Amino acid sequence: MNLKIKIALIAIALVHISIAIARKSTHGIAHHRLVRLHTVLITSTVMLIASYYIWKRVNFAIKKNKAHKSESEISIANNIESESDFAITELLPSPNPVGNRRLRLLCLQDIAQALMLLFLFLSHIALFFYYILLGPEPNVIAITSLSFIAAYAHILIFLVIADILYYSTRLIHNKVSANSIHAYLHQNRSFHILLAVLLGFLFMFGGLYTTHTDPVVRNANIPMKRFTSNGGNVSIALLSDVHIGPSVGRMRIARIVELTNALKPDIIAIAGDLADGLVRDFQGAAEPLCNLKAPGGVYFATGNHEYMHGNVTEWFWFLENCNITVLHNENKHITVNGQKLCVAGADDLFAARAHVPGHGMDLKKTLSTCHVDSTNILLAHQPNAAKAVLTDNYLSQKVNLILSGHTHGGQMYPFVPIVHIANAFVRGQYYDKKTDTYVYVSAGVNYFGPPIKIFGGCEIIFITMSS
Ligand SMILES: *[C@@H]1O[C@H](CO)[C@@H](O)[C@H](O)[C@H]1NC(C)=O
Ligand SMILES: *[C@@H]1O[C@H](CO)[C@@H](O)[C@H](O)[C@H]1NC(C)=O
Ligand SMILES: *[C@@H]1O[C@H](CO)[C@@H](O)[C@H](O)[C@H]1NC(C)=O
Repeated sequence: MNLKIKIALIAIALVHISIAIARKSTHGIAHHRLVRLHTVLITSTVMLIASYYIWKRVNFAIKKNKAHKSESEISIANNIESESDFAITELLPSPNPVGNRRLRLLCLQDIAQALMLLFLFLSHIALFFYYILLGPEPNVIAITSLSFIAAYAHILIFLVIADILYYSTRLIHNKVSANSIHAYLHQNRSFHILLAVLLGFLFMFGGLYTTHTDPVVRNANIPMKRFTSNGGNVSIALLSDVHIGPSVGRMRIARIVELTNALKPDIIAIAGDLADGLVRDFQGAAEPLCNLKAPGGVYFATGNHEYMHGNVTEWFWFLENCNITVLHNENKHITVNGQKLCVAGADDLFAARAHVPGHGMDLKKTLSTCHVDSTNILLAHQPNAAKAVLTDNYLSQKVNLILSGHTHGGQMYPFVPIVHIANAFVRGQYYDKKTDTYVYVSAGVNYFGPPIKIFGGCEIIFITMSS
């Protein structure tokens, strides 16, 4: 191994070890900040290794293509850089076809490498855009950088899959036969690498389409045993994971508000993860929320991101000024269409770990004054908090419907399995027979991080409760 790389690795290891020691000896907010810093550093370290890997693979493909093609007369039409190839061919006169071809290939390779460096660089700095170039509307560079990180993740996964196939078939090939799948994979290796890159960008553009078109309205009907037949139906528009931030701006929020109001819901519930930043940076983007209209009220409870990126107290003030009722481990009794309801909201499961004074999920307090004579609805951002309610004898009697978000339905295809492992409920309507309680998990109207989401992944849930 190269000496410089050795030194770099030792330096990185030392940094991580010293932060790990510091983490052990701090408490409270200082500890929490250190954990966040360490998470960022770990992510950066992992990304450096991943970028080195991507760079090696893609370079292999580019160079292989060059060598291959200057020998034979195969067209470069398959090359992902075919557009720039075309432009350069057009620009250059060709008195000397051989020399011209060399020059052209050299240029192509350099352009491809430069583009790849730019791509890797923008992917690496994506998280900075949670702190710079903030405003009511997203910045183009921020959107590009954040989108690239999704392409990056997909490319990495596809390259790893290609390599797993390549090396596992090589193992088999060495032992069994000469004319094998491995021979095919070996011959087409650079093509498969370029295909991984191409697919990564295709998934990125597909995801961008989802996040830049209107969220889908999904209807749900839920029977409520405590509804009186004298009264009418009650509808709830569930918005979760609004994630106002570097790529979710005022226009997007205004459109979501317009679509929500058009449903004419009796109640609007915002189930956490409203914003990824400070009120002073995102007030302009958040203002359209003040236009949400529902006769039974607009309610908000926190999500984990309220405790990660901003100042939750300031967001509470902002929402209260907008006539949005903040449910901070508390509930409100209302009567809508002749039905008695208790709308409750708990702090997020993560709040206690974030060490924000006065915050922490307290389900007992949240539900204490919701009684059996009303239909009780709980806003609890994480499905695992819903699970905590269902598995508790006292709490589960108090609730009829739990509204959650948090999972983003996986947000991007590769993460769907992980979300299934990490959450008690993932997406859609669930019914717990034992406690006779419904849970609805929304995939959210928006997303966190890259503006990339699975098809149909942005949703407004319109729930009709009937007797
Ligand atoms: C949040 O904002 C409030 C009001 O501006 C301020 O008093 C408080 O110290 C802030 N909290 C943190 C953790 O910055
Ligand atoms: C909030 O409600 C009050 C009373 O209904 C009203 O006067 C005020 O204009 C509302 N504020 C906003 C921001 O909608
Ligand atoms: C109430 O909801 C049920 C179920 O969605 C529906 O069949 C019924 O027509 C609704 N009633 C009214 C008055 O809208």
